[in-house]
Amino acid sequence: MQLPIAVLVSGSGSNLQAIIDAAASDGDFGASIVTVIADRPGVRGLERAVAAGIPTRVVPWAGAATRRTFTGAVCDAAEQAGAQALVLAGFMRILTREAVDRFPNRILNIHPALLPAFPGAHGVRDALDHGVKVTGVTVHFVDEHVDHGPIIAQRAVPVDQQDTEESLHARIQSEEHDLFPEVVKAFAHGRLRVEGRTVVWEGASS
Ligand code: GRF
Repeated sequence: MQLPIAVLVSGSGSNLQAIIDAAASDGDFGASIVTVIADRPGVRGLERAVAAGIPTRVVPWAGAATRRTFTGAVCDAAEQAGAQALVLAGFMRILTREAVDRFPNRILNIHPALLPAFPGAHGVRDALDHGVKVTGVTVHFVDEHVDHGPIIAQRAVPVDQQDTEESLHARIQSEEHDLFPEVVKAFAHGRLRVEGRTVVWEGASS
């Protein structure tokens, strides 16, 4: 039995591609992407989905009356496709509490910094501007606050003195592409248990 998931994208979709590739190459992946939902047409993430034969939906942010109606439309689209969980892979819109109520502890997000440091839309730039020596990647469950829910997994990425936002983001992304499919697989296998703010990996040795 595969867990049906919806992957939400706003841009290039390289994390979506990593999940598509993992699902294709790992017979024990445990999750199946039943739809890819974007907040605008024409993004590369949608092209990647089409190339993989995955149905797509566009729920335009531009046409939404309110964040509430947008959130409802995204959740409806996911449910209509049969999704039981949402995977936010570079989805740049904030969903309202309704999404968390409809998919409790069933929404995953990836953020390009070590939360709770540098939340928001510019996690890489903000870390660089702050002068940190180490930043990284966080995958977490989504709750009603931005970049805030229980942390599932993190990877550290050292900052080089010569780094630009682009070079640092590229190294962060290569960690993302390894980590996100691993987390989605663990989630699909029911191995992630939430206890308050702590996520316990069932069956992990440490
Ligand atoms: C990633 O770096 C992710 O951490 C952030 O947005 C970026 C999306 O990249 N939330 P892509 O669309 O998966 O290539």
